[in-house]
Amino acid sequence: MNQDLAYVMISEEEIRSRVREIGLALTEEYRDREPMLLCIMKGSLVFTADLMRCLDLPCTLESITLSSYRAAATIPGDLSLTTPFEVDVSGRDVIVIEDILDTGRTLSYVMGLLKAQNPASLKLVVLLDKPSRREAAVEADVVGFTVPDEFVVGYGLDYNQKYRNLPCIGVLKPSIYS
Ligand code: IMP
Ligand code: MG
Repeated sequence: MNQDLAYVMISEEEIRSRVREIGLALTEEYRDREPMLLCIMKGSLVFTADLMRCLDLPCTLESITLSSYRAAATIPGDLSLTTPFEVDVSGRDVIVIEDILDTGRTLSYVMGLLKAQNPASLKLVVLLDKPSRREAAVEADVVGFTVPDEFVVGYGLDYNQKYRNLPCIGVLKPSIYS
């Protein structure tokens, strides 16, 4: 699979060390609280699994499934909830965990749904931020890495549902798209 990559943008080691750093900071910040981790499936599965093991805190885990890339795999399409939104976040300290903040359409939608339920607090943690592509007004509280406008795969992020299991984050060779 690595042979499908034009280059590695963020190595496995860099990811591990940044995830540990974020975990330490959140552990400090949420001391004496019991946050609810909300994993936005499927892209955030790998990041959530690693990050939660760096939290030295009691916490609960919920997930919601969304899909936004419909027709063409790399062009944002209509957003839809694949499963009904059944998570009750009222009164909870919610930490939303997402793989990438791109146009922001997904997260502005999700954060809106969550805010309407009056959580005690709401924090947005994203592994990657692509600020150059932003369309909706949403910013993350914690960003793992700011990345340029390139379509990336690995560590949970997919191209046509593949490459999620790559341990690093990289850019695919142009030949893969044709
Ligand atoms: P947004 O709504 O445009 O911010 O993007 C939301 C979703 O698009 C993310 O949660 C990802 O699943 C997907 N996405 C955006 N950029 C990339 C990328 O570079 N690689 C893989 N998936 C991406
Ligand atoms: Mg996603």
